[in-house]
Amino acid sequence: MHVPSLIEKKRDGGILSDSELQFLIAGFTRGTIPDYQMSALAMAVYFRGMNFAEAVALTAAMRDSGEALDCRGQLAAALGRPMAVVDKHSTGGVGDKTSLVVAPLVAACGVAVPMISGRGLGPTGGTLDKLESIPGFRVDLTKDEFLAQLGAVGVAMIGQTEQIAPADRKLYALRDVTATVPSLPLITASIMSKKLAEGLDGLVLDVKWGGGAFMREQKQARELAEWMVRVGQQAGVRTAALLTDMNQPLGAAVGNALEVREAIETLRGGGPADLRELCLALAEEMLALAGVEGGRALLEERIASGAAMAKFEEMVAAQGGTSLDMDAQLAPLRADCAAADDGCVQRMDCARVGLVSMLLGAGRAKVSDAVDHGVGIEVLKKIGDGVQRGEPLARIYARDEGRLAPALEGLAACYEIGPEPVEPPRLILEAVR
Ligand code: URA
Repeated sequence: MHVPSLIEKKRDGGILSDSELQFLIAGFTRGTIPDYQMSALAMAVYFRGMNFAEAVALTAAMRDSGEALDCRGQLAAALGRPMAVVDKHSTGGVGDKTSLVVAPLVAACGVAVPMISGRGLGPTGGTLDKLESIPGFRVDLTKDEFLAQLGAVGVAMIGQTEQIAPADRKLYALRDVTATVPSLPLITASIMSKKLAEGLDGLVLDVKWGGGAFMREQKQARELAEWMVRVGQQAGVRTAALLTDMNQPLGAAVGNALEVREAIETLRGGGPADLRELCLALAEEMLALAGVEGGRALLEERIASGAAMAKFEEMVAAQGGTSLDMDAQLAPLRADCAAADDGCVQRMDCARVGLVSMLLGAGRAKVSDAVDHGVGIEVLKKIGDGVQRGEPLARIYARDEGRLAPALEGLAACYEIGPEPVEPPRLILEAVR
């Protein structure tokens, strides 16, 4: 096949066939199709889009560009019986630590949860960064260690390996520098190729919309959720999505060790109401896809009995973690951002909360940046809360005196306070199944 002709076809609004997409992805992964041709193709897709069949074929080609994990088959062989294998993926947001709660909670109900996560790029740390705030915790298990732990404990959380969907790793790096990230078919194929390579029975997607999310508009987020659910189902994986709010941080904690602390509180039956609600809703979807009966009552019982927290501790110990005293990991400097007026929190600039946390050191501006696990923000007031002048809105945890004043200033600008009473945003907008 002639690569410039395929680029031309998409540039002019044509439809690429399954074999053409397979050829393009295989050649790009091998290095026989250079970055400049793939960049041109990505831009053509950005402008011309893809139909659903092309998105399915692109996802499959990217999934097949590397190793398939076959968690389901490997686990059944190791245990001598089938066990439902279900994962969860979030499109990411400020204070989103749901994976830390949901994975052990669902595993405590007898479902295997093989969680392969990314590192955070952007405002806050990713799941791996959060886990690495636990002293000794290893996210770099080998494939054999990962599968063995999945069989023994029922849950393991590791980083993306070089072998899973390598085409996505290469293509995402190109999209990042060619302004072609915000493309519905390219995002769908990127996320779903990695998840489908795991060998799952079911997948639950948390697709966030709002100021602190990748998708700023509800409509875009809904469309992404619908595409990803359809692609998953077409590939034979039971897939569902929740469309959830990210116009304010989830829970109170933003920052790695702070978020692990909050996840532990939630696993122990406490934690902020919004975080608990979303974790239960996601976990309920996962149980339904796994075919496990009991729903919310079972999940609540696993929290109340201590089984969910025990599963988390078992996973942490299996992956080398030595202490869950997260207070000991927190940075020593504290400062409160106080309300300038009496009133009610009308709105929050959620993306900016993430940015302040990144400037404190909790997230990365570029891949090579190091993350400070101990810094972050505790959000004490959220949309709809009443405040009095001088009352703390948020608390900063910093390591470096010089970062306190700009962080306080940045946080104050995240809050809009006014006289009108306001309803908090709806956390779960709808389910896509
Ligand atoms: N996350 C991904 O993994 N890929 C995208 O394209 C966007 C978000």
